[in-house]
Amino acid sequence: MIIAANWKMNLTQKQAVSLINSIANNLNTKNNILIFPSFTLIETVKKLTSQKTIFVGAQDCSVNSSGAYTGEVSAEQVKDSGCNYVILGHSERRKYHNETDLQINKKAKLAIKSDLTPLICIGETLEQRKTNQTIKVIKAQLDEIYTEVDASRTIIAYEPVWAIGTGLTAKNEEIIEVHNYINDYFSGKVRILYGGSVNEQNSDEILALKNVSGVLVGGASLVAEKFIKIANFLQK
Ligand code: PGA
Repeated sequence: MIIAANWKMNLTQKQAVSLINSIANNLNTKNNILIFPSFTLIETVKKLTSQKTIFVGAQDCSVNSSGAYTGEVSAEQVKDSGCNYVILGHSERRKYHNETDLQINKKAKLAIKSDLTPLICIGETLEQRKTNQTIKVIKAQLDEIYTEVDASRTIIAYEPVWAIGTGLTAKNEEIIEVHNYINDYFSGKVRILYGGSVNEQNSDEILALKNVSGVLVGGASLVAEKFIKIANFLQK
C-alpha cells in the first residue's frame, strides 16, 4: 500500500521536524510512506528519513525544463533535491493557478525524464458528479494527461474535488466505480490512490476496497497520531 501525505502550504522547519520524528518513530508497517512537504522543507524531511522507508516528493514542478521562470522549480531540481516523487495536477493547482490537463501532461513528461514518479491527481467537481458526468470527466482527463506518457511510470490519485478538505468522503461504491474504470483504462498497469477527507477513522475501510492501492491524505497527515494510524494499515 502507498500512504501519501500532502502537507500543502503548512509547517515551519521546527514543526516539520517534530511531525516527521513522531511519524518515523511510530511507524510499524511495510507500506510505502510518501511525504510531500513544501519545497523549503524537503531537505529537512529527507535528512530525518534517510535511514527509513519514507520517501519524499514535491507538491508540483514547472511546466518548463529550465530558464527564466522566476519562482518556478523544475523537475530536474526536484530530483536533485533528493525527491523521488512529485504531485501533479492537484485540484488546488487547477483551481488557483488554472492548471490544465495539457500542462499536467507536459509536467509528467519532464518529471519522468528526470526519473521522478509523478503522482497525478484527477477528479470531478460536485457539479459534474451531480450531472452524471464523472466517468466522462475522468476519461477526458486521462486522455489528455496520458498522451505519450507511460502510465506504469506514474501513480494516479483519484480525488473528487468536492471531497478535498470538506470532510465529505466519497461513498465506497463511488470510489470503486471510478477506480475500476481507471484500472480498466490502463489494463491494470497503474496504481490508484484515493484522496479526499481520508482520516484515521475511514482509512482502513477505503484501503480495503478493490483497486485501491493507497491513499493521499491532506489535513489528517498534519496530525502525527492520525497519520500514524492511517500509515500502519495492515492488509488482511
Ligand atoms: P484532504 O486533502 O485529506 O484534506 O481532504 C487531500 C488532498 O488534497 O490531497
